[in-house]
Amino acid sequence: DKPRVWVSRPTFPGIVARLEPHFEVTVEPEERKFSSSELAARLATQDAAIVGLKDRIGAAEIAHATRLRIVANLGVGYDNLDLDSLSAAGIAASNTADVLNESVADYAWALLLGSARRMNAAERWLRAGHWKATEFKAWLGTDVRGRTLGILGMGRIGQAIAHRAVGFGMPVLYHNRSPLPEATERACHARFVDKAQLLRESDFLVLVLPLTPQTRHAIGAPELALMKPTAVLVNVARGGIVDDKALTAALRERRLAAAGLDVFEGEPALHPGLLELDNVVLSPHIASASTETRRAMTALAVDNVLALFGHGPHAGRPPTILNPNVLA
Ligand code: GLV
Ligand code: GLV
Repeated sequence: DKPRVWVSRPTFPGIVARLEPHFEVTVEPEERKFSSSELAARLATQDAAIVGLKDRIGAAEIAHATRLRIVANLGVGYDNLDLDSLSAAGIAASNTADVLNESVADYAWALLLGSARRMNAAERWLRAGHWKATEFKAWLGTDVRGRTLGILGMGRIGQAIAHRAVGFGMPVLYHNRSPLPEATERACHARFVDKAQLLRESDFLVLVLPLTPQTRHAIGAPELALMKPTAVLVNVARGGIVDDKALTAALRERRLAAAGLDVFEGEPALHPGLLELDNVVLSPHIASASTETRRAMTALAVDNVLALFGHGPHAGRPPTILNPNVLA
């Protein structure tokens, strides 16, 4: 009897097929949100699961999962997984660290530049048929050269964002739980500052930190009040890190110039009012959504599952395991 793996959403069949020699594979045919009891019922019969960020897995969902050995998350952030419960049950968990760094960094810059140059609002205006003549002073945005880029959360995605700032001629400040080693700091031309200084001095502030109980509402009304009224906020991390209610008010009252947001508190619902603002660039959580990267994420999730069951180049050592203590 082959072990069973469940894939919670359609991905890339050619990549998932690498599981077939070793597993009985079930792939959900449609993208959907599963309830807790639906997840529990599915996980109860499986030896492995490849899940997405919408699948929230904790004690209740694994209560009957007596065969389950690994949950491979299609995403670098894993706030959808209760690692303590998984570890306590001896279930491995993995994410898709590193393969998405460059795509997400590119996308953070797309939101930054799109916000600075008002690309989406201008496009909406053009599509609405308002373009009659070229007006010299229409759609004036702001240059980025010489302005200060701030990065909150300086992991590998933050560093990839910082590297790109060199080409745009922007000095980089960052804040992180701990400063980077000096050589890494030098390589990304970034200077460590405390959070208050980062908020006060950034012209563009990009959020790239994980969502944890400690980072929930890391940007709320008090933090927004420290920022320059000309500043632009970019969030490619997680909804919930920003208090969207406070952000919407700040943008409406022009206490903050603009925002580029790929993630939202309570997504796919948006805070009421956000859609009415013209100084926001909004997208539906797609920062890692390039073909190359989504394929690489799928391959890495598959590699983690194969490895846990002793197959493939990483046999025995899932390459991006989050709780290696369960292997002992
Ligand atoms: C790739 O593996 C695909 O199925 O597109
Ligand atoms: C996407 O949000 C991810 O965490 O990979």
